[in-house]
Amino acid sequence: MTTDAMMIVHTIPELRALLDAERTAGRRIGFVPTMGALHDGHLTLIREAAAATEFVVTSIYVNPLQFAPDEDLESYPRMLDADAASAEVAGADVLFVPSDHEMYPEENWTTVSLRVITEDWEGESRPTHLAGVATVVTKLFNIVGPCTAFFGEKDFQQLAMLGRMARDLNMAIDVVGVPTVREDDGLAMSSRNLRLTPEHREQAPIVQRALQAGATAIQDGERNPTAVAEVISTMIATAPGADAPDYVAVVDASSLQTPEVLSGEVRLLTAVKFGDVRLIDNIGVTLK
Ligand code: PAF
Repeated sequence: MTTDAMMIVHTIPELRALLDAERTAGRRIGFVPTMGALHDGHLTLIREAAAATEFVVTSIYVNPLQFAPDEDLESYPRMLDADAASAEVAGADVLFVPSDHEMYPEENWTTVSLRVITEDWEGESRPTHLAGVATVVTKLFNIVGPCTAFFGEKDFQQLAMLGRMARDLNMAIDVVGVPTVREDDGLAMSSRNLRLTPEHREQAPIVQRALQAGATAIQDGERNPTAVAEVISTMIATAPGADAPDYVAVVDASSLQTPEVLSGEVRLLTAVKFGDVRLIDNIGVTLK
């Protein structure tokens, strides 16, 4: 982080010129892509970027490509003034806030999509979502240029996909995952938490407790992914306020495929609706 006031930039040429000058001066660029409504999870990413690099760019762009027609694009929270103030305090040097026209001046004919890692879980529940994310993040990576990019582990499938995409496409980007930031009662921080009713907000921490129960079953010796998934599903399905989970995944943490027998780095993931608010969460377990 520099000591100058944070700049707000709306155009791609302006951002490129700024970042090229920083790189020429020998400063490493940290990048935190967001859709705004910044909470402590995002601010932790900005703080990590400021600690690890010398110049931090945060983007705020609600990407239409990653929302299906029946999803919450219109109602997604937008609060630029508050976001700019908190991004600056957390250590951002420049905030990139492009318009839809800046990002998609023509009809978008090119999409980026990955096989295998996107086929299940969020990929099955939200068929166009992950390709929408891969496409906009590729555009943002091309705009920002060589950098270290920071993503939260809360969107674990997104993080795993983007790391794989950067490797597969030889992008000059280091993708770094940062642990999920939680409220005191264990609920993973998310911009969507703002839309929970007070009753659902009280009930929602069951998601993390159920994942934790699955992790405990593994630590106690269970190695069958189906049995672990059952522990999690049953706890959520019988909890007040929660719908039956969209999915419960007990998978290898890098491929997101379900193994016959659990070993190595395991990830437990789920997506659950409370009313019309869909929450996702995950935790990891390392087996020796
Ligand atoms: O995680 C998000 O907020 C979005 O999916 C991202 C990475 C900013 C792309 O729009």
